[in-house]
Amino acid sequence: MRGLYPILLFVIFVRCLEAKKIRWCTVSSPEHRKCAELAKALVAVLPPAAVAAFARLSCIRASSTTDCMNRIKANRADIVTLDAGEVYSAVKQFDLVAIAKEIYSDGGCVLSVAVVTNSSLDIRSLRGLRSCHSGVRWTAGWSLPLGFLLSRNYLSWSKEHPLSHDVSAFYSASCVPGAAALAPSLCTLCQGQKSYIQQNNYHCETSHSEPFYNNQGALRCLRSGTGDVAFVDHLALESIEGSERGNFRLLCADGTQAPLSKYRSCNLGRGPGGGMVTRHNFRKVARKFLMTAQLLFGRQGRERRRFQLFDSSVFGESDLLFKDGTAKLAVLPDDMDVSQVLGLDYVALLKGLGHEGSSLEDSVVRWCCISHAEQKKCEQWALSIKSDPLVCVKGVSMRDCIEKIKRDEVDALSLDASHSYIAGKCGLVPVVTEYYGKNCVHAEGLAHSETDVLPSVVGVAVAKHSSRSVFIGNLEGRRSCHGHMYSPAGWLLPYRHRLSLDRNSSSPCDPNKVYNEVFWKGCLPGSQGDLCKVCLGGTGEAATKRCTDNHNERYYGNMGALRCLVGDPTGKSYGDVAFLEHHNLNENILSLNSTGWATGWASSDFELLCGDGRRAALSEWKSCNLGAVPPNTIMTRPVLTARVYDFLMKSQEALANNANTEFKLFESHQYGESDLLFKDATQCFAQTSHMDYRSILGEEFYTHLETVFNCTRSDILEFCNQDVCSIF
Ligand SMILES: *[C@@H]1O[C@H](CO)[C@@H](O)[C@H](O)[C@H]1NC(C)=O
Ligand SMILES: *[C@@H]1O[C@H](CO)[C@@H](O)[C@H](O)[C@H]1NC(C)=O
Ligand SMILES: *[C@@H]1O[C@H](CO)[C@@H](O)[C@H](O)[C@H]1NC(C)=O
Ligand SMILES: *[C@@H]1O[C@H](CO)[C@@H](O)[C@H](O)[C@H]1NC(C)=O
Repeated sequence: MRGLYPILLFVIFVRCLEAKKIRWCTVSSPEHRKCAELAKALVAVLPPAAVAAFARLSCIRASSTTDCMNRIKANRADIVTLDAGEVYSAVKQFDLVAIAKEIYSDGGCVLSVAVVTNSSLDIRSLRGLRSCHSGVRWTAGWSLPLGFLLSRNYLSWSKEHPLSHDVSAFYSASCVPGAAALAPSLCTLCQGQKSYIQQNNYHCETSHSEPFYNNQGALRCLRSGTGDVAFVDHLALESIEGSERGNFRLLCADGTQAPLSKYRSCNLGRGPGGGMVTRHNFRKVARKFLMTAQLLFGRQGRERRRFQLFDSSVFGESDLLFKDGTAKLAVLPDDMDVSQVLGLDYVALLKGLGHEGSSLEDSVVRWCCISHAEQKKCEQWALSIKSDPLVCVKGVSMRDCIEKIKRDEVDALSLDASHSYIAGKCGLVPVVTEYYGKNCVHAEGLAHSETDVLPSVVGVAVAKHSSRSVFIGNLEGRRSCHGHMYSPAGWLLPYRHRLSLDRNSSSPCDPNKVYNEVFWKGCLPGSQGDLCKVCLGGTGEAATKRCTDNHNERYYGNMGALRCLVGDPTGKSYGDVAFLEHHNLNENILSLNSTGWATGWASSDFELLCGDGRRAALSEWKSCNLGAVPPNTIMTRPVLTARVYDFLMKSQEALANNANTEFKLFESHQYGESDLLFKDATQCFAQTSHMDYRSILGEEFYTHLETVFNCTRSDILEFCNQDVCSIF
């Protein structure tokens, strides 16, 4: 027993020491010197007790950032600052945690820019050039530009190999520090010292001893004429001196060039900035250390005259320990997962690029289905195409699907004009737009539209012929039927008309408020309260409580609003007016009988309510409608644009070439509904991946939506705005 005592004491002693000492991992001599200066400065300004308690810094010299992650994991170092792409690897592959993020003077994000010196280069013709990158898997130097090139199809990825393979074939030569293990050819331009002893090898390493490492290294690679293009973040542009700025140009997404000052409009995307990582059990100490260091030596630190945390100039390198552009560190709470730290868009991008190794999911397209009927149609679709796998994933509404796309749980779906606006605000992008015109080009069985004119549909208000006193202006206290929440024809258009003459339109900005004030009750699937009272819910396989925002609710959509107007078979739960789209109204009236909902209805039993108070036959829709509705757009995450486009085109082609198939992509009545997955009026897809959602919607419709959503609360827009690098 006696012999154990000293050992026990020794263990306790060592553990205490360990808890008090912070071992910062450095990757070069200049960084090591800065770290040592920081350690000295701490000792000089803090009372000895405080230093002993949590501010005893020692500096560990490692050969690369990967070496640092290994050492921290093995408890041979404690903390290091990494690019966001490496933070992701540190969390996923090294089981470390992010404890703080760098915040720059313009926020927590970086913009990826492509810098050149040759005025005849553009972003579309990078193939065969020599490229310089800040680091492999780095946000601005690797992931964002590759995501951009893939989404535009300027770079193609066969998926048979990891992406780095296709990248090394794309450029004629590169320096991508950190890439030696992925593809040695990505290192050909690097200039660090080579050695067979790993600790002495700096060639193509993520260390300042590799001259072309980091943002400044990539710019050095460009400046020296070694490379033709450098991928760096916008903060790096600050360091380029005034006299030299004229020599450099940025490559913009639209194929033009711009001066360095235009990086806000001329960039390849935005992503999270750098962060600090440590081991789980070291979080508390590391956080306390960072807060203390910042309090003393940050931009506003009380001892900043002695030492500056975010300045590396005196050590002869840039971005040592932290990025020099850092304004402050944001210390993170304990319970954040990696997608909260780095943002959903960014994490989805990294998965899209195979950051965790390539996965079998790569060739699968996951379609979001919002109802039982859509799920059935989608499964038939999946069976009808043989080549590319389609997986049908269940969502509960278009908004839920947008969230699922951002969470990387599904890939795509077709969205109505209002939801396209929401998805666009959430950072999703168009692939194709539903084309309702007659100009589909049939070439080799491939139907697609090459026109830039995208025909719209119209929204109308419909009443029963027999309800003679119902007209626009006299709807106060009546029962209403609306396609669904945020639907262009059912929600966005009607409130702009003077629905009730008795009432001054006092709040013409929030449609929900207007409908709640004007109507007695109604069915607006996806809403609450009185505007759910007329809804029915669903039964059988599609059983659901009433007012859900999908076809399981019998009164959802264009078909549902018509059912609502007619009333359920018992003659209850009916509306006086229905707001819906015109394009499939006649077919839907006919299908009331064939789907067993109601017999004996014909088009002549209904009339349109015009905005000016008149009533007219259904055939008068061109002059008697509530406004135009831009087409639905199929949207996805940017990195998937080319894949989803390919899938849709192949799928369309396969269906056109197989005359035996029963399956029709743009028909829904066999499932007892209308507009499942796509609007029934669709003739083919028009490629719109070169357009942004704003130009697809048209300036007028876009502004209308912006006005409405500026004063209408929406959970999904709030959800998207929370994302770390939300699109402004
Ligand atoms: C600039 O780029 C063009 C096109 O790649 C090339 O032909 C030309 O030689 C380059 N000029 C210089 C000065 O490198
Ligand atoms: C409606 O507006 C007019 C003019 O703005 C005003 O005179 C009138 O009192 C208002 N009526 C109601 C019921 O608010
Ligand atoms: C209505 O549907 C029933 C049963 O499907 C059918 O027998 C009848 O002919 C249909 N009536 C009309 C007018 O289409
Ligand atoms: C909506 O709000 C934003 C931010 O407040 C503003 O910039 C924009 O002009 C508004 N748009 C409209 C159409 O009111």
